[in-house]
Amino acid sequence: MKGVPMQDNSFAERFPVHAMRGDATAVREYLRTTARAELLEHGAVLLRDTGLTETGELESMSRELMSTLYEAYTGGVVPRSNHSRYVFSSTELNGLFNLKLHNEMAYQRNYPRYITFFCETPSRWGGQTPIAHESDIQRELGGEFGARIAGDNVVYTRRYLSRDRHPSRVRRFPSMFVSWQDSFGTEDRAEVETKCAELELKFEWSAEETLEVRSVLPVFRTLPETGREVFFNQVLTQNFSRGGLGTAGYAAHRLFGFSTASAPRHSAFEREGELTSADVATLNRAYTRAEVSFRWRRGDWMLVDNLQAMHARRRFLGERSIWVVMGE
Ligand SMILES: [Fe+2]
Repeated sequence: MKGVPMQDNSFAERFPVHAMRGDATAVREYLRTTARAELLEHGAVLLRDTGLTETGELESMSRELMSTLYEAYTGGVVPRSNHSRYVFSSTELNGLFNLKLHNEMAYQRNYPRYITFFCETPSRWGGQTPIAHESDIQRELGGEFGARIAGDNVVYTRRYLSRDRHPSRVRRFPSMFVSWQDSFGTEDRAEVETKCAELELKFEWSAEETLEVRSVLPVFRTLPETGREVFFNQVLTQNFSRGGLGTAGYAAHRLFGFSTASAPRHSAFEREGELTSADVATLNRAYTRAEVSFRWRRGDWMLVDNLQAMHARRRFLGERSIWVVMGE
């Protein structure tokens, strides 16, 4: 039905699902021989009942798919913790909030080609990781909107507090106040500046050592294997608006007195300017129609071609442990 979020298990109607029956050797074989081609064709794949229990195995298995694993989350916008060098927790954004569809790290030059999600502990309620193929999103956005944003860039602005200047905010509300010390993994401002230069981020220090960084990146990218233009960005999730952050997230930010000019993150089009509320509504409607989801089970492993599919996270209750490995 149009405009209504698709039901759980709609994933299987859009993307391949493979029952691995606890056979880790078969998982390894699949990753080595088939995964890349299937991901190129479909954009995402779910491996059920992988038989993997040790997150350590996850790293070695991931190397069958990816020749380079991504180590750090430099410049990231949500808090994370590392399980090991290459295995991260998925977002630790408070379970009260939905996180909308986005391409991982699309606001930065160093985005991963693949992102994988492994379920160690499914949440009692909610906590799905919805997925949408970018071609479904483009179709739902419609030709008129697509033509208007084609060739445009997104201007991403992010603001990080100093952990030293605002220790209690950073500690108590980590999903709203990411510190530059945590995000860039250093206490040294000069080192932050070097990393910004590497990532082609324009930066500025403002009052109380707040760091503002800015990147300008295209709305569409070219899929190298086929030359197809793919919708790849975080224009909606980075937009400081009710429609971007969701009602609860936006209300929480407003409670702290944030405005567009001070928000932890914000997006705008370079040519078209600020997103109108109609733009935000168009994106939300398209995302809702394009997304599919499934209920996590322990041992599930979802593989995603980050260039071709967006992912999200639903609200959840209870403990939830989803591990992320990404790379190229
Ligand atoms: Fe993500």
